[in-house]
Amino acid sequence: MFRSHTCGELRIEHAGTQVTLAGWVQTVRKFGAITFVDLRDRYGITQLYFNEDLNPQLDAEPLGREFVLQATGTVTERTSKNANIPTGMIEITISSFKILNKSAVPPFTIQDDTDGGDDLRMKYRYLDLRRNAVKKNIELRYAVNRATRDYLHSQGFMDIETPFLIKSTPEGARDFVVPSRMNAGQFYALPQSPQTFKQLLMVSGYDRYYQIVKCFRDEDLRADRQPEFTQIDCEMAFVEQEDILAMFEGLVKYVFQAVKGVAYADTVQRMTWEDAMWNYGNDKPDIRFGMAIANLKSAFNLGGRIQATGELVNGADFKVFDEAETVLAIAVPGGAEWSRKQTDELTEWVKRPQVGMKGLAFIKYNADGTLKSTIDKFYAEDRLRGIAAAARAKPGDIVLILAGAEERTRKAISDLRLELGERLGMRKKDEYRLLWVLDFPLFEYAEDENRWVARHHPFTSPKPDHIETMINNDPFIMSAADYLRHPYANIKANAYDLVLNGNEIGGGSIRIYQRELQEKMFAALGMTEEEALHKFGFLLGAFEYGAPPHGGIAFGFDRLCAILGGSETIRDFIAFPKNNSGRDMMLDAPSTIDDKQLAELRIRLEKVNPE
Ligand code: AMO
Repeated sequence: MFRSHTCGELRIEHAGTQVTLAGWVQTVRKFGAITFVDLRDRYGITQLYFNEDLNPQLDAEPLGREFVLQATGTVTERTSKNANIPTGMIEITISSFKILNKSAVPPFTIQDDTDGGDDLRMKYRYLDLRRNAVKKNIELRYAVNRATRDYLHSQGFMDIETPFLIKSTPEGARDFVVPSRMNAGQFYALPQSPQTFKQLLMVSGYDRYYQIVKCFRDEDLRADRQPEFTQIDCEMAFVEQEDILAMFEGLVKYVFQAVKGVAYADTVQRMTWEDAMWNYGNDKPDIRFGMAIANLKSAFNLGGRIQATGELVNGADFKVFDEAETVLAIAVPGGAEWSRKQTDELTEWVKRPQVGMKGLAFIKYNADGTLKSTIDKFYAEDRLRGIAAAARAKPGDIVLILAGAEERTRKAISDLRLELGERLGMRKKDEYRLLWVLDFPLFEYAEDENRWVARHHPFTSPKPDHIETMINNDPFIMSAADYLRHPYANIKANAYDLVLNGNEIGGGSIRIYQRELQEKMFAALGMTEEEALHKFGFLLGAFEYGAPPHGGIAFGFDRLCAILGGSETIRDFIAFPKNNSGRDMMLDAPSTIDDKQLAELRIRLEKVNPE
């Protein structure tokens, strides 16, 4: 028997038992004739006690960090106990031991607060994975995986694998491509998601499908994005939007309970995309706290010249507001007490290039009801009170106001809201708030190409009431200036995103399942008939053979794990992740390939790589 127990298992009740443990040497502490070793494995740490009389060979074979050791001895009560670890009451008095393997000195310390930088830890990821902090994340990931499978299995879903070497699936990113040796000059694409396959499975009658599956997207990376990431990918036939929402809020609630012991009893809130954009400035609002955005331009006509007369009625003469495309505000609790230094710092914060505003105006609504404002030269007190009321400010709050171009200002106030939510401790890591965002626009206008693009993907169906509008109108847009007046700008999609604490953890839609409507969609996106047939002939063909109504969703599995683990960095929850430039630091990939391999693939490189 290699080991009788793990390093996390022994307790005071085992005192007197003869045991054998195997693991890695975490620390060696020598005190004269006595040596203490912390032995670590996946399950915990146990203290080993060596003394020169019993273990004379220790001198000849000194132990080092990360050596692999097998040690036999008796479980003994410790004299100085460690209440911080489960095995802290005991130690093993070692009678014999064997070094199973030596270790070079590790490049960083294998402990929670390691001295290793990011790149170093990624280069030696197999050592990083030994650290408790990383191990906990990998364990959590497995728990989420198991809970997901349990739930979906109990609901009659079948896990069906779909291929990786496929043809392009449009999910809005660039494809990773793989050259084919047997079909020289031709390429496979790696799936950005199994989207078309899961729809084909619905046509084939497998009415509840799921897969925990890798997806590949060549896009700019961020903390919550990896070039290969994992989805919980699901599809159902004979369903409407409500069926999908109920099924999958069920999944997330089940995972909360199974993994975190959190009973999420509340009904999952819902918000239209439009409300999310107006009230929170983005399509994935963090609803753990309020501070909703007030639109002062529409509420107050702030800076608004009355269109019909051209006359400036509000008498502000404050150019910054008068000339701004939009003026937005939030009320921050307790802000009336802020010092000059604090408001100055926040002004600098909004002026940083990442936020890009020119300045920050504010109104302090003091606890005694008086007002103090940076714009009181321009607005009489009753107007300032009106603005504060529009921002739903209470005595003690500060109203922060940003003015500028629509999109940038909206993004800036949304960032400011999140930043202040963070600073004021309103974004609690152990509080989970789910939100369905519904009624997305079906199309977005791509200015650079002067055409419509699918906001979700081209297989998403319009709301039933909007199908007519789509069919009866020509997608052609005269110019960028009139795209908002085009009927397509108002078509809403049968699509939904699930947002958890301000992160989009999943998204999906009810699909188009009729050939004609799908063809119209491709045409709307600017594809010719030939192109549509070339790219998606298989799907259009399948829709002619009795395609059932269907819809589905995919969750970002890494994101869900990260949030449940209290982080927004998905890399920490992936065993072997890539860095921010898409590199695997351990493998040193991507890398060049042999000339022979290139020749077999009939590929000639344009520029020889300097390596
Ligand atoms: P979508 O593109 O919205 O939908 O992706 C679903 C979810 O996957 C996660 N995600 C990512 N996670 C990590 N790194 C990335 N690069 C990345 N990109 C996306 C997000 C997102 O919500 N086929 C459709 C789903 C459907 O319609 O059923 C799809 O892939 O959490």
